[in-house]
Amino acid sequence: MATIAKTAAPAVPEKIVDLLLDPTAYADDRVLDAYSWLRANAPFALIEREGFDPFRVVTRHADIREISRQNNLFHAGDRMNNFIDKAGTDYVLSVNNGSPHLVESIVSMDPPRHMPHRLLTQNWFMPANVRKLEESIRTIAREAVDRMAATGGRCDFAKEVSFSYPLHVIMNIFGVPQADEPIMYRLTQELFGPQDPDVTGATEALSAEDYAAYQHKTVAAFSDYFETLSAERRANPRDDLATVIANARIGGEPITKRAEVGYYITVATAGHDTTSISTAAAIEQLARDPQQFANVKADPSLIPGLVDEAIRWSTPIKHFMRSAVEDTEFAGEHLKAGDWLMLCYMSGNRDEAVFDQPNRFDMRRKPNNHVSFGYGAHLCIGQHLAKLEMRILFEELFARLTSIELDAEPSRTKSWFIGGIRSMPVRFTMA
Ligand code: HEM
Repeated sequence: MATIAKTAAPAVPEKIVDLLLDPTAYADDRVLDAYSWLRANAPFALIEREGFDPFRVVTRHADIREISRQNNLFHAGDRMNNFIDKAGTDYVLSVNNGSPHLVESIVSMDPPRHMPHRLLTQNWFMPANVRKLEESIRTIAREAVDRMAATGGRCDFAKEVSFSYPLHVIMNIFGVPQADEPIMYRLTQELFGPQDPDVTGATEALSAEDYAAYQHKTVAAFSDYFETLSAERRANPRDDLATVIANARIGGEPITKRAEVGYYITVATAGHDTTSISTAAAIEQLARDPQQFANVKADPSLIPGLVDEAIRWSTPIKHFMRSAVEDTEFAGEHLKAGDWLMLCYMSGNRDEAVFDQPNRFDMRRKPNNHVSFGYGAHLCIGQHLAKLEMRILFEELFARLTSIELDAEPSRTKSWFIGGIRSMPVRFTMA
């Protein structure tokens, strides 16, 4: 099928487009080759492929930032903000009364709605507040390390440590009972991973309609859960984030049901998989390089750098989409109102114009201006919490861990949206 409609830049080879549109290429890093070619040859390429709406693939760090910064000109919510094919889009529109969003989330709100909704919880996530959570997070981290120790020297670090830990933290912040955490874990996986047969239980990747239907069902299950929680918090307010969301008002009016449930789902899901993927990525690198492990163990002041580098390296969210609000020029190209843009954070994080030796994992990298948390008005609200959680887990873990190595090659999510290590068998010793 025809792939390109570009004027000055060279045609984008079919094999590059194949990689971009192949979920398995994200699981084994082959997509990095596509990004590298695009950055060098066609950093703002228009991709046209049958079955998909045409889109621009934005691969340079500077362009990703600039488009994110101009959130009046490039909206996050006018079209789908994660990339799916035409059939999937049509399905979502059909089951949602024409709205492209299954979930009404601040991630997909635009001015003037976005900021008042963001401000409802922003204080909760500011460093001054999340630092207050340090002791309770440390308790959860110690429990995670104890569970790892109890395996006796062999475990699947992703499945047994890094996935449950951030989930436990965020559920704690919400005040969700521990007994319900497995439900939240399953729903998060289902919302973000339905391209991956390992998640859905299907033998092959789902069709676009099945994919969208699967997500729709998951959102309904989330909604049921959180509506009950919210009603409970309105009746019995507590000092937790669920109470803040349940009682949220803008201009004196309660926020809509959809916005309320969307808030819960966004915080529960955005704060879970992403942090666990970055956590596993850091441990993978240390397991592959005993010298680096020895360095950080001997000098815990290296931990914040390890955290930043693992978040850059793994880039858990591969992209978000934006669309042009009006006809405009960008990077010397003409855009029409509605044109769809894929901000490839993973590519921005390997941009050689910004990062020295970008394909090298370097916990001493400074500065480390990665775009894993996005940029501009939507910059990840949970970034301080994510970094705090990772730092505390590593402090607790490295105080006891004396060696770690891979027991088998890690496996990664097959998804072009959110993904990273899903399974990582390790052998280790602990003091
Ligand atoms: C390593 C971990 C994380 C990564 C890589 C990550 C990544 C991102 C990205 C890429 C965005 C969108 C930025 C944009 O559109 O410009 C975002 C937004 C957001 N994140 Fe995170 N995130 C992480 C952890 C968390 C945590 C722990 C929470 C909460 C507990 C959280 C909550 C949110 C929320 C609510 C937004 C929407 C902000 C807005 O639209 O104003 N994230 N995150």
